[in-house]
This record gives sequence, C-alpha cells and structure tokens, in this order.
Amino acid sequence: MSPTLTRRRLLAGIAGTAGLAGTAGAAAWAGGLFDAHLVAPDGNLVARTESARRRAGARTVSATLNPRPVTLDLGGRQVQTWGYHDSVPGPLLRARAGDVLRVDVTNGLDADTSVHWHGVALRNDMDGVPGVTQKPIAAGGRHTYEFTVPDPGTYFYHPHSGVQLDRALYGVLVVDDPNETGRYDQEWIVVIDDWVDGTGRTPDDVLASLQSMGGHGDMPGMDPGDMGGMTGMSMGGMETMTSPLLGGAGDVDYPRYLINGRGPQAPVTLAGRPRQRVRIRLVNAASDTAFRIALGSHRLTVTHTDGFPVTPTTCDALVLGMGERADVTVELADGVFSLVAVAEGKNGQGLALVRTGAGSTPGTAVHPPELDRRVLLTGGLSAADAVRLERRPVDRVHRLVLGGSMMPYRWTVNGATFDKLDPLLVGQGERVRLEFVNTSSMFHPMHVHGHTFAVTDTGARKDTVIVVPRQTVAVEFDATNPGQWMTHCHNIYHAETGMMINLAYQE
Ligand code: C2O
Ligand code: CU
Repeated sequence: MSPTLTRRRLLAGIAGTAGLAGTAGAAAWAGGLFDAHLVAPDGNLVARTESARRRAGARTVSATLNPRPVTLDLGGRQVQTWGYHDSVPGPLLRARAGDVLRVDVTNGLDADTSVHWHGVALRNDMDGVPGVTQKPIAAGGRHTYEFTVPDPGTYFYHPHSGVQLDRALYGVLVVDDPNETGRYDQEWIVVIDDWVDGTGRTPDDVLASLQSMGGHGDMPGMDPGDMGGMTGMSMGGMETMTSPLLGGAGDVDYPRYLINGRGPQAPVTLAGRPRQRVRIRLVNAASDTAFRIALGSHRLTVTHTDGFPVTPTTCDALVLGMGERADVTVELADGVFSLVAVAEGKNGQGLALVRTGAGSTPGTAVHPPELDRRVLLTGGLSAADAVRLERRPVDRVHRLVLGGSMMPYRWTVNGATFDKLDPLLVGQGERVRLEFVNTSSMFHPMHVHGHTFAVTDTGARKDTVIVVPRQTVAVEFDATNPGQWMTHCHNIYHAETGMMINLAYQE
C-alpha cells in the first residue's frame, strides 16, 4: 500500500529533498505535489489544526514498536514472519480521547516500513504513508509518531508499505471515552486475520503470482499439506470465491484464518461468567477476506462501528470487511461456546472459544446456526444521535468508479491506477460527498484516511465501508482535517495494484 516512486507530481517533493523530518515545511514540497497549491502534510495549516485539537495539560501516552522478523506459533504450526511482537496481534495501545499518543518505532526489518493509524483523525504528517506524508522508515531506522487522538473508539495500526499488513504487522489501538456510558462487566479484543506467510509463500509471493498469472495457476514451492486452495479467480467467468452477500469475495484462498493469532486447531479461550455483559471489540485485520462472525447460542448487539456509536442493533451474525471494526455487547450464557469467523465466500474459518462453565470443546469446523440467521453489514446501521453528521448542502462531489481486472491483475479508480490518478481536490471546511460506484464483480471495502464519514443512506459513521458489485455507496464528511489523505480499497492486493487515490486539500 505504499505509493510507488514513479507517481507523477507527488514524489518530486519528497524524493529530492531532506523530506519531512526537518523544518523545511511547505518549501520541501514546492515543485512536487504542491505545484497545485495543495496543503503540505508538514505545513502550517496541519500544525495549526493539531494545536486546536490539543488540550492544555493533555496526558502523553508513550509506547514503542519494533517491527522485526519473528517466529510465531499459530497453534500446532510455527511460521517465520514479520511482527511487532513474538505474538500477534502486536502490542495493545490504549489512550483516552484527548491524549497525545507518542510511539517510537525502531525498524528491525530488512525492508522499509511505516505505521498507519487506521481510522484516527490525526495530524496529516503522522498518518504513516511513505512517499506522501513521510519518508519510509529505512531498515535499522527510527521514527517517532506523536499526535492527539481526538475520538474514542476501536482503531488499529499497520504498515502502509507494500503488502506488509498481510504478515503479522498489526495491532489494536483503543481510545477510551472519558464519559463512557456503556455498561459492561468486561471487554474482549478479538482480531481476525487471513494467514499465508511462512506456509510456503510470503504475501509478496502472493502478489507476484497474482500479477504474473492473472490470479490463477499454481505456484511451486508451497507447502502442499497446508494449501487447501490456490489463488482463485474472482473475475472472468471462473468465480471460485463468491458470496451471496458480497459477490466476488477475494482473490486469495488462504490456508489459515486466525483469531487473536491462533488457528482453529488451537483456539484462544475467552473466559467469563454466566450473565456477565461483555463488550467485544472486533477488528478485521485481514488483507483479502471479509468475515461472517457469530457466537453460538448468543445474539450480538452492535453498539459501535469503526469506533463511532450506532443505534444499538441486535443480530445473529455480523459481516466485517477488511479494515472495518465493530463493538458488540453479549450477555454470556452458561457453558462453552464457539466464536466463529467464517471466511465469507471462501473455505475455512477462524475460531475462538468462549468458556463460562462446563461443556465439551467444539470441533474446528463447528458451524453455529446463528451464522445463517439475521446477518448484518455495518454500513446498514444508523448513527447514534450524538454522532450524527448534521445536514447541510454538499459543496463538492467526487465520483469514484471502482473497476479492475484479473488479467492483467490491476484495480482501478475511474479507470486508472494510483500512479496515473490526479488527486481528488477538496477545500477546507467544505461538505464533501464521495460516491463509490462499483462496476466490478468483487466487493471493495473503501477506506478514507483521516476522516470518519457518514454513510449517506443510513448515517452510520465509518471510515471503511463495503461496496458490493453493481452498488453505489455515497458517503459525506466535512473537510476539517487538512492534508493529503489516501482513499483506497482495504483489500491490500487491490490497493497495492492501483485502487487508491489521494484526497487532497487545496490551500
Ligand atoms: Cu488501514 Cu490506508 O489503511
Ligand atoms: Cu478492492
């Protein structure tokens, strides 16, 4: 997901100068992107916006991240990969709304990296997009991120460099609400992922195979016992991974699906007591997989999506696209229950156990009936009154037609890949509407950096929204966070091969 260095108009500013770390300010960008008078990530407007957000006496929460090669035990299987920890997800970062988060990153990888704070309306120069908001953090290098976290909610962090997110480089950021009104007895954080690294191919191999074989064909050197399926076709008449809810459901058939770092053969256990109310913060950190999530013998009451509250809505199962989060509340029954995340339209599932009493352990293929009852997509929820975007006339509309092909493997916005796309211009203070028009046969979870939009039809406040084939989803937001913001599909293979565009504030 890092923009390539061949992009026109964007790169001159960063490649040829001292970059962003210094005090050069907007001057560092002159002649690059900013020939169009765009707001510089390290310029005054961004700095002023951050000062306005910062409260006097704000507490600073400090943390460190050390991306590095690690060996993980996925449960009955060791894999070599890259992670922030010797386990996955990476360290849980936790702050209160209004705090300053300061994270020192030391890059122990043999590759450039970066850290993006997914969903956070932060200052633009801390957004973690190499080539746009910062220089990449070189192998052995260090970088400090420091920014105010304005809004409570469930967020996550991951690199914005290539397909590194498809390794173990992700972790959760919880921003607590100082005025939390929800009542619950305990909290579980549940992170779901699709897994391939260390099973005979890396995510970079997967990308190369998609690009060289148009999304099908065999790749030598795989672990045959582990590879249930191969990279499949999602377009062009050979749809092997489709879902009635989402249409084309992905390009990669993963050998494993994880919940909190464990495959279904060795699931984590979440312990509680009968009748306790538990808040579950669900995060889909996968790269190419949406999950249908249910807890056997329980219903889920969704209270938040992408960090922001919704009118509490009860369902049996919930679908989360890549990059989406949801907070749900459950009232625990007595026994042993399966928390299942089915890879939507694919083969396999993630599993965790919920244990509040005696009971037998379910098998890895357990299929609670809730999975096939009332299934909800979070874009269909309605915003809680407190976070409803006020009505006002739209100042600016951008239409983003989503398309692509498997052969060659490339994904596009308005018919072009990122390197050929002019930015979507917005003016400070404008009400902006983006219309995502999906003309492809696959679903795309569309993500906007630095803003929490409102889905126009429902009001749901989100930063990532699923757009299914032949659907148009309109979203609106107020342009109050100046800078250069990536807007892209959160299928990492789609983003990396072109489905990304810069949402650019003009001076
Ligand atoms: Cu999690 Cu650019 O995104
Ligand atoms: Cu996509």
